[in-house]
Amino acid sequence: MEHWTALSLTLIWFLALCDGAPTTASPEDHQIAEAYLSQFYRDKNATFSGRILPNLEKELKAMQDFFGLEVTGKLDSNTLETMKLPRCGVTDVARYGHFQGKPKWKQSVVTYRITEYTSQLSKREVDTTITKAFQLYSDVIALDFKQIYNGTADIMILFKAEYHGDFYPFDGPNGVLAHANAPGPEQGGDTHFDDDERWTLRSRDINLLLVAAHEFGHALGLEHSKDPLALMYPTYRYVNTNGYTLPRDDRIGVQALYGKLFDAATSFRRQLYFFKNGYYWKKGFYSGLSMHEIKSTWPTIDSVDAAYEFRDRDISFLFKGQQYWAVKGNTTLLGYPKPIYKFGFPKYVRKIDAAVYVKSTKRTLFFVGTKYWSFNERTVQMDRDFPKTIRRNFPGIGSRVDAAFENYGYLYFSEGSRQSEYNFTSRRVNRFLLNNGWLDCY
Ligand SMILES: *[C@@H]1O[C@H](CO)[C@@H](O)[C@H](O)[C@H]1NC(C)=O
Ligand SMILES: *[C@@H]1O[C@H](CO)[C@@H](O)[C@H](O)[C@H]1NC(C)=O
Ligand SMILES: *[C@@H]1O[C@H](CO)[C@@H](O)[C@H](O)[C@H]1NC(C)=O
Ligand SMILES: *[C@@H]1O[C@H](CO)[C@@H](O)[C@H](O)[C@H]1NC(C)=O
Ligand SMILES: [Zn+2]
Ligand SMILES: [Zn+2]
Repeated sequence: MEHWTALSLTLIWFLALCDGAPTTASPEDHQIAEAYLSQFYRDKNATFSGRILPNLEKELKAMQDFFGLEVTGKLDSNTLETMKLPRCGVTDVARYGHFQGKPKWKQSVVTYRITEYTSQLSKREVDTTITKAFQLYSDVIALDFKQIYNGTADIMILFKAEYHGDFYPFDGPNGVLAHANAPGPEQGGDTHFDDDERWTLRSRDINLLLVAAHEFGHALGLEHSKDPLALMYPTYRYVNTNGYTLPRDDRIGVQALYGKLFDAATSFRRQLYFFKNGYYWKKGFYSGLSMHEIKSTWPTIDSVDAAYEFRDRDISFLFKGQQYWAVKGNTTLLGYPKPIYKFGFPKYVRKIDAAVYVKSTKRTLFFVGTKYWSFNERTVQMDRDFPKTIRRNFPGIGSRVDAAFENYGYLYFSEGSRQSEYNFTSRRVNRFLLNNGWLDCY
């Protein structure tokens, strides 16, 4: 709970407010403002010392600045209205998108357990909604979430009103809706929902998916964002949850902590290409990084699962589901797409995870689940005795491959956010990297 502000000397601060900033706001408004600032904008060091008088005008200015209001240091009506909006219980004091020290989960599977449910939704609705909220994150980072039903989970979740076992009792309807801890041991990641709110799965009252997704952002290490379109904006605002995906600001924030997932990667005329959803990022060895829509370069291709470059013929192959295309620069060759079964895959293969051409053996390796195939580019035939198990034949790289490419003689294999630099000759991992490393300027 360490990032939360402590309660403090209300009376003194109330007086300071009245002295320092004469306004037309009522005494009740001043109380609201004082409580709000002490809860969300006070430096807890000042509080604990017990001697330092809070600088109310400074806190008010910080609050106005955070919400993009006119920074007057006065309690005007816009400021008061913002203070009265339903919001998250985590403080806005931090200046960063991540908590101090950037705490994050180190494991690849994070467990959660719901110990107390709300009576306003069925158990099944709560379970499904919580799963969906975690999925918003597992769709864009290499972290998986698993619900457990007994014992201690990494993230313990409960719905309860008022006092619920920590120093931050809830406040009845509206006001604070929920709060969560940054990642860590013990109470780290724990997430509490105020059961005095009216939880729904719709637009009226308080939508559980949106609040849960926001709180899990904290539980994964995200702080509040000043971007009003971000999920991590501190006040609650309903948006349509049908087909909802993580807003851009939050995605970049969480990927900066955990790395990105790529659908595919390949070298391409001495540049590196990374594919994700409908986009690709191109990184030249001497030039910077640029992002493009896949369709804008190859109009018939909207996303890519796997890709490899057959440099001997200056051709690259892009795979999507059971189809593939051959491209030369930005030209798609005639006669494509073709079915992947032309390579000799059995019918149960519905999708290629990754592919890479190994120049020294003239073989293309195709990765599917925990297995891989080897295709002889000289005889244009699949090698016999395949598929083989990835873990057994590529020791150290993991059990699956999401994306693979070759660069300066090394093979690079991604599994989740972890990438192995692999020496194919010595059959050894040279070092581990984060997928992010290639795209550090993004
Ligand atoms: C609070 O005080 C502690 C101990 O004096 C110090 O290490 C820490 O950096 C301070 N934190 C802030 C936010 O000033
Ligand atoms: C704990 O939950 C698992 C299911 O996740 C169940 O199989 C097991 O029996 C439970 N153990 C106890 C002690 O309740
Ligand atoms: C295709 O590549 C050529 C040069 O290689 C370039 O002039 C042209 O703008 C590219 N077209 C598109 C749609 O990217
Ligand atoms: C891979 O390992 C072999 C044998 O240890 C070594 O000769 C070769 O230089 C290594 N390759 C790269 C790209 O470093
Ligand atoms: Zn929050
Ligand atoms: Zn709590």
